[in-house]
Amino acid sequence: MKRRQLVRAMAATAALPAAVGAAGPASATGRRKSRDPLAFDPDDHTTLTATVPTAGGDRTVTYRFHRAIPYVAEPVDVTYQTLNVSVPVAVDGAPVDASRAPVLLSNAVGGYMPSSTAGATGVTLNRPNPPLALAAGYVVVEPGARGRTLVDADGEYYGVAPAAIVDLKAAVRYLRHNEGRIPGDTDRIVATGVSAGGALTALLGATGDSPRYEPYLRALGAADASDAVLAAAPYCPITDLEHADMAYEWNWGSSPLADGTSVDRSLSRELRSLFADYQASLRLDGGRGIGRLTARTYDRYLVRTFLEPSATRHLAALPAGERASYLSANPWIDWTGGRASFTWADFLTHVGPRKKNVPAFDAFDLSAPENNLYGVHTTRARHFTPWSLRKATGDPRARLEADLPEKLDLMNPMPSLARRNPHRARHWFIRVGAKDSDTSLSVVGNLNAALDNLGDDVDTFVYWDAGHGANLDAPDFIDWIGRTCGHVG
Ligand code: DHB
Repeated sequence: MKRRQLVRAMAATAALPAAVGAAGPASATGRRKSRDPLAFDPDDHTTLTATVPTAGGDRTVTYRFHRAIPYVAEPVDVTYQTLNVSVPVAVDGAPVDASRAPVLLSNAVGGYMPSSTAGATGVTLNRPNPPLALAAGYVVVEPGARGRTLVDADGEYYGVAPAAIVDLKAAVRYLRHNEGRIPGDTDRIVATGVSAGGALTALLGATGDSPRYEPYLRALGAADASDAVLAAAPYCPITDLEHADMAYEWNWGSSPLADGTSVDRSLSRELRSLFADYQASLRLDGGRGIGRLTARTYDRYLVRTFLEPSATRHLAALPAGERASYLSANPWIDWTGGRASFTWADFLTHVGPRKKNVPAFDAFDLSAPENNLYGVHTTRARHFTPWSLRKATGDPRARLEADLPEKLDLMNPMPSLARRNPHRARHWFIRVGAKDSDTSLSVVGNLNAALDNLGDDVDTFVYWDAGHGANLDAPDFIDWIGRTCGHVG
């Protein structure tokens, strides 16, 4: 039951909370002793086993499973604002001491939808990272979070921006609040998630301890603790949403739709030119041989930094015969001296159709998931870019509603990185598929460049020929966590 409904139900009976408070037992200091509502109970668990396939064969993992623990004192909806904790105690019968182990904080948010882990019967097994982390001796925490479609009996949308990131921050705070009670080292929290969950992961990493979220966290009764994380591993993050339409046209603007038709050329061109201004405003450096990242240098940056190395690794790993047939089917790839090279234009042709029409995110008819993400109160969906708002209303001077600039900031890791947030994650593992046209490849490109320019430790890789949601090197991620956290397994 939602808290608002619960409170209403209580108010209908009596003004109980105040009365209980006044009559409650007083301590020596005159204050009522109260139990910590956010104290984790280590004894409340079930012991489970899971068979985890690893590179070294199947592992039998015995672990303690703590289910559906509310992570805020005043939840709006406990279906979502809970987390599961899985603590390894033995792997193949050998005891594991996870008391100072890294903590993998793995969210399952997709589509900015609500995400509940409350009904789970064990650690998530149908994604590679959580079970592999457990088998490596790490603690796995799986938080739920409110999402954009949640609406209460009064028609209020209570999971729209910034609810999901506030919830995930509250979950991090809960872990820190319970340091010593929950096994695992809260100085070694590694956040991860895919797509919208990847976006929230990037946000967790970029916005650690930002005071901007404080009022929202306070309203939920979140623990008064740090919400910074050591590392963040976003997979195909659907982020920087207010610039995603322009970036999409820069990247996929010349690609046809799946039905073979092309998008409105003039709209695409308008957005593409806005991307040039936006990209210039970021003042990012693309590294050696690239220089300042602009709409003009960006194709070269993507090809040289990510796409050619990706194709090279893919082709080098193939048996000679398969490589030869791949190359004969793809004569646009030059394979010389064990290295792949090609042009951006040929790469785009290879990827084929774009997934989304123009504009890709701020739809004129408010039908995109992101329009709903930026809903407010009883309004299901809103425009969140001046460009779409003006096109849709026909008013060239229309302005975004007054609350939106702040909410856009709260949902976007890029401004926090531009502000050089000193409490950001300093270690990043970023992945996306080369054929992922859910958003522009410049989203990952800019995240990588911003972090790299700040001097942070960034491991970005593009999976060759892979689409949205790909996770093709989970064992490498698990090893990366061990190295990053200085964990000896
Ligand atoms: C997701 C995918 C999208 O294309 C999008 O716009 C938002 C979210 C997702 O898979 O989470």
